[in-house]
Amino acid sequence: MATLKTSVLGIEFENPFILASAPPTAKIESIDKAFALGWGGAVFKTITPDDLEMIEASPRYATWKSGGKVCGLENIELLSHLTVQQWLDGIKYLRKKHPKKVQIASIMAPVIKEEWQKLVQTFNNSEIDAFELNFSCPHGMPEKGVGMAIGTSPEISAMITKWVMEVAEKPVFVKLSPNVTNIVEIAKAVENAGADGFAAINTIQSMMGVDLDTFEPMPNVNGKATFGGYSGIAVKPIGLRCVAQIRQNSDLPILGIGGVSNWHDAAEYMCVGADVVQICTEVMVNGYGIINALNKGLLSYLESKGFNSPAELKNRAISHLSSHKELNKQKKVYPNINNDLCIKCGKCVTICEESEHSALTLSGGQIIVDNEACIGCSLCSHICPKSAITMKHAE
Ligand SMILES: Cc1cc2nc3c(=O)[nH]c(=O)nc-3n(C[C@H](O)[C@H](O)[C@H](O)COP(=O)(O)O)c2cc1C
Repeated sequence: MATLKTSVLGIEFENPFILASAPPTAKIESIDKAFALGWGGAVFKTITPDDLEMIEASPRYATWKSGGKVCGLENIELLSHLTVQQWLDGIKYLRKKHPKKVQIASIMAPVIKEEWQKLVQTFNNSEIDAFELNFSCPHGMPEKGVGMAIGTSPEISAMITKWVMEVAEKPVFVKLSPNVTNIVEIAKAVENAGADGFAAINTIQSMMGVDLDTFEPMPNVNGKATFGGYSGIAVKPIGLRCVAQIRQNSDLPILGIGGVSNWHDAAEYMCVGADVVQICTEVMVNGYGIINALNKGLLSYLESKGFNSPAELKNRAISHLSSHKELNKQKKVYPNINNDLCIKCGKCVTICEESEHSALTLSGGQIIVDNEACIGCSLCSHICPKSAITMKHAE
């Protein structure tokens, strides 16, 4: 029998599904509800010193939808509005009621040693399991010299990590920004400064769109907009790439984040190096109740593969990553047309011709593949409206 239990730096997770630092973890009552529903843990909405000003804009969200489904969310939200004391009381309450749930305090302070150390020392004395350092919020906070302003500089990231490690009595994960040229450079800087692990990724700096009547970008805050942070299923490929790059260069634990919406996404994150995953946008779109399908789906997948726990998935995809130069370019795949599904619309013929190769023709009511002209790029299989094309190696 497989289990969903997993352990990271001695912290025991009932299951590998953790709420990410965001609105679903902004109130103690909400976290209480999420724990009761089965979430393995929560990273609290980022806590700051009480005197750090936090004035929110309205509206603070914009979405990119496809077929009515939210694919991407942009937000310009700031950090927690609870006081440090409210969090301390909340942690005590949650620990008593849900002793086995993992509680992680996400923290951020101005770039002043005493401020960071004071915040860490305050939570050392609480019953949290770990710290997450928010070096990666891409909006609002960088203007104050924090958030992504820290996480885009290896020097400042390392300096603050050292300050924190001098006093932290719990494991420390650094939450990294994808808004950098080389995430590995920042990851190595904080690892060398003593960090215990990573959380990746935070949101991607974005602009959702422009209203073509008023010329105001979105989200429109009384006629003005600012760049926000992009999240949700659209960002998963970027999150996976970032986690894989960190894993290729470090053995430290990784809390994988970015566009996880189902157990499948979570398993993929584990395959590229994540120990557990965090989820935000999918919960904001569909609620805490998704935890049942996440737990059930991952467990039955593990059993179907004969794995005992999520830990057995970890890093399985890493050895299959290489440089472009090292890819085996001798063998090609060719389109295989399922004539029962094909509606002979000719889209694949047009696209193949207009995107370089003219390997497909519609002749005698059938799509004919010219294997000599075909370069095996696979574009036809992706644009077919009926999924009638699969790519196969030549016999
Ligand atoms: C509305 C909103 C608020 C967020 N607030 C925080 C925050 O306070 N601290 C933080 O570290 N990350 C914050 N995040 C980032 C998420 O924790 C997460 O890294 C990101 O959304 C990617 O995960 P997802 O695709 O599952 O949403 C926020 C994200 C959203 C959408």
